[in-house]
Amino acid sequence: MNRREIDLAGDVRTMPEAAEILTEALGRPIAFAQTPIEQVRQYSKEMAVMLEWFERVGYSADIAGLESEFGRAHEAPRPGTPPRAHWANSRRAHMKAVRLLEYGGQLVFNDVPTPTIARDEILVKIRSTAVNHLDLVEASGMARQILPIDLPWIPGHEFSGIVEQIGSDVATCVPGDAVFGTTTGMGAYAEYLAVKAAAIAKKPSNLSFEGAASVPVASQTAWQGLFTHGHLEKEQTILIHGGAGAVGAYAAQLASHAGATVIATASGDDKAYLKSIGASQVIDYREAQFEKVLREKVDMVFDLVGGDTQKRSFLVLKEGGHLVSATQPVSQEETAIHRVSGVMMRLAPSGDGLGRIGRLLEEGTIRPDVATVYAHQDVAQAWKDIAGNLPGVHGMSPSGPGAAKRKSHGKIVLRVA
Ligand SMILES: NC(=O)c1ccc[n+]([C@@H]2O[C@H](COP(=O)([O-])OP(=O)(O)OC[C@H]3O[C@@H](n4cnc5c(N)ncnc54)[C@H](OP(=O)(O)O)[C@@H]3O)[C@@H](O)[C@H]2O)c1
Repeated sequence: MNRREIDLAGDVRTMPEAAEILTEALGRPIAFAQTPIEQVRQYSKEMAVMLEWFERVGYSADIAGLESEFGRAHEAPRPGTPPRAHWANSRRAHMKAVRLLEYGGQLVFNDVPTPTIARDEILVKIRSTAVNHLDLVEASGMARQILPIDLPWIPGHEFSGIVEQIGSDVATCVPGDAVFGTTTGMGAYAEYLAVKAAAIAKKPSNLSFEGAASVPVASQTAWQGLFTHGHLEKEQTILIHGGAGAVGAYAAQLASHAGATVIATASGDDKAYLKSIGASQVIDYREAQFEKVLREKVDMVFDLVGGDTQKRSFLVLKEGGHLVSATQPVSQEETAIHRVSGVMMRLAPSGDGLGRIGRLLEEGTIRPDVATVYAHQDVAQAWKDIAGNLPGVHGMSPSGPGAAKRKSHGKIVLRVA
């Protein structure tokens, strides 16, 4: 049950706005002509709390049913009290979504209400979404202090799709536009997504929806790692660790396009691929230690691997060079010893930045890399596939039962429609 749909706490200012949202949520016309707006907000908040409780104890409920049972209730049922009615035949619009009900639990594929949008949001009919490491890490709960999620939770940080509806403040797109972007609240493993209009861009016309869904997180991470944090310039040399991965492949293409010399570490299998996207030297990390192979020091290291790889990277940086890590904090003791700078980045997505990347994709300067496309309901297998790079996270094992041999590079995509 989607709490956003009826919790009007800070979202509405006028009675007609409140009435419009509640009408959609309840599936029948509703008017609050004589009621102060504060009272309407309070009412919707209580309904939202109640629905959350129903959801937690595992009952399927709808607002219309609840309302007829409790009237305009002012108290959420006490935990442990079973619902007194059977809530069936909801008249509201529903959609299929993949959800996690508890940390570390199985993903479930079922019906949830279609989200409604705020004034600065759009409703997107999702065509494809992509799987990221972050989805599994968040679901496992292992990083819940810094990456908390609201359960039940719909995963998915990026998508492509068609604009279905726009909020009253949105002027950058219209229904029917093909778009791609990063999420700004709810997740994208669903048939519909409410997302801030500021986080999307027009889908490059030469990309399929599957290809476009694989772009937003990895490409923007690469862009911001290289240019916002690493200040990479023409004729500098960059070493990219994990160069054939989703982020690394964009980093190699963007750095090479910017006129830098690109050296990458990767598995031997990915050598030819990396050369085809702009790397001038590829070091097989399974066979050799990069600090022993490199003949000259580099201006920048982009670390997409972490651990010992990051530690050894200080040995290959020129004085004054930059280490940008997307995986873990950088030791400031080490940076001082080696007279370099180092920062851990966190992606700050934007529609404008993605639009810039979209133009490079459209003109063929860079290209996406999709490894496998799964059907929406086959998400559990998709997670098993990506777990090869995340042993132990969310109870997954790369060699465990059902784990498929993954293509050596490229993103895992879910086809939703
Ligand atoms: N901070 C942020 O905002 C942000 C944003 C996006 C991603 N990330 C993080 O960035 C990292 C990379 O993400 P991704 O999506 O690109 O992952 P990915 O697609 O799984 O790529 C990881 C790559 O690293 C390679 N690799 C593994 N061990 C290596 C080693 N010791 N030396 C060199 N290469 C090695 C893997 O090759 P094999 O599979 O052949 O071993 C794989 O190609 C992840 O940790 C992700 O969570 C952070």
